[in-house]
Amino acid sequence: MMNLALAPYTSTLPVRPAPGSYLWWQEGLIYQVYPRSFMDGNGDGVGDLQGILSRLDYLQWLGVDAVWVSPIYPSPMADFGYDISDYTGVHPLFGTIQDFDRLLEEIHRRGMKLILDFVPNHTSDQHPWFLESRSSRDNPKRDWYLWHDPAPNGNPPNNWLSVFGGSGWEWDSTTGQYYYHAFLKEQPDLNWRNPEVQQAMLDAMRYWLDRGVDGFRVDVMWHMIKDAQWRNNPPNPDYRPHLATYEQLLPVYSTDQPEVHQIVAMMRQVLDEYNERMMIGEIYLPINKLVTYYGTNNNGAHLPFNFQLIALPWNARQIALAVDQYEGALPMGGWPNWVLGNHDQPRIASRVGKAQARVAAVLLLTLRGTPTVYYGDEIGMRDVPIAPEFVQDPQGINMPDLNLSRDPERTPMQWDDSPNAGFSTAGPWLPVADNYRRENVKVQRENPNSMLLLYRRLIALRRTEPAFRIGDYIPVPAEVNVMAYMRECGVSRFLVVLNLGHGTCFFMPSNLEIEGTIVLDTIPEREGIAVKRRVSLNGDEAMVVKLK
Ligand code: NOJ
Repeated sequence: MMNLALAPYTSTLPVRPAPGSYLWWQEGLIYQVYPRSFMDGNGDGVGDLQGILSRLDYLQWLGVDAVWVSPIYPSPMADFGYDISDYTGVHPLFGTIQDFDRLLEEIHRRGMKLILDFVPNHTSDQHPWFLESRSSRDNPKRDWYLWHDPAPNGNPPNNWLSVFGGSGWEWDSTTGQYYYHAFLKEQPDLNWRNPEVQQAMLDAMRYWLDRGVDGFRVDVMWHMIKDAQWRNNPPNPDYRPHLATYEQLLPVYSTDQPEVHQIVAMMRQVLDEYNERMMIGEIYLPINKLVTYYGTNNNGAHLPFNFQLIALPWNARQIALAVDQYEGALPMGGWPNWVLGNHDQPRIASRVGKAQARVAAVLLLTLRGTPTVYYGDEIGMRDVPIAPEFVQDPQGINMPDLNLSRDPERTPMQWDDSPNAGFSTAGPWLPVADNYRRENVKVQRENPNSMLLLYRRLIALRRTEPAFRIGDYIPVPAEVNVMAYMRECGVSRFLVVLNLGHGTCFFMPSNLEIEGTIVLDTIPEREGIAVKRRVSLNGDEAMVVKLK
């Protein structure tokens, strides 16, 4: 088996730009680590904080500015950490609070930032708050969760559904009421209208901010407040049986309520008590609703996650239109951001194929706004098929016929060609991709044509060229499978041309005099070629042209 001796990760990337009037979360690149699957430091088959620490040199070499780590808190793991039983601790599976402090220190020493996942909508049903709340109707914490009497016929109080299948209401026979859970019944929703809940959760944020954490990715931000009258959700006319059962209704009363913005503003105020901290909101909503989460006068989330590149079909016209709509909908001072994947979505290389995943990388890293890269996408990792009897994700287990398990996109990072892809010395919690000996960080570092080096060179280009970090976005009309735009900062101008199709094509804009040189291309052999007036493109090719 090929075993390449590799040099240590020395960083030859352009240095991070000196801080100007833009902030780190605007100019930088965020990298999502799913901690169970990134690197196992203690040989138990599950990734951990020591593991992340041991790979920081890699992240620095790649050019990552901020690391977002999915939940590491104590949790019964019903939803793999998104069911938290203590907001101010570390699950022993991941390490100790000392490991956490060390990781944070080492991240900061490398000039990077750490973003924690914060899950305010629900706790674990094993959280001491919920154990108290469910113990009796007159417990002081009863109102910390969403308890409701049954309907007159004994049914749940309304028709709200759980995202993970079935009713959103769970009967509690001890106290004779239902509680609401937007996700698993093991994840009861908190009552954010209760000031004590607000105080306790904001204090949890302060706990991590005081330790030095640079920001939070806030889980399901648009779910946090529900209709005060508990009205039934209307049916979804577009529901089809292949969709998750949750899609049967339009969640107009259970999500995205106007008062949620007051809660988001409260969280923002806490962040503003500190220097240069930030908050990303996980929000799956159409553009016009999404942008309201920037808040009034930008008193909301710094970055409401923009999932359009995940939601849209891989179609040049639709994507170009959506970028224009998004750019147009951003409030004054609202900073854009882009995402291709995360731990809840099929991987980009599986969705659009290996060749187009390279085009997607160029798109993600040359659009205006902060990019977030999901671990493994930088080496083109694909979803790994997992036989039904081995599915671990509750979403997959609860709706077995709908192929909704998220395990395939959560498989171990492929580091090298050693057993378990260098992820762990033990059998990993989810299987490693069969092709890991060919597709891994070690092999790709040595191959100038690899996805990894494409990512790294794109990231370096962002570092070097203000046009990409902070420049204007100027759409250029194109046809059929081509999408084109310019990025411009002062006299520095670049043209990006992407072929989202597999066939060759020409791009010849009528209203733009193109003259320049290809400086980066998914086909590296084309770099250095001069272009004038028109550009010919291979199928699946994307290029960056430096204009004269
Ligand atoms: C969104 C998270 O990304 C997902 O993994 C989780 O299952 C749900 N929120 C519930 O917390």
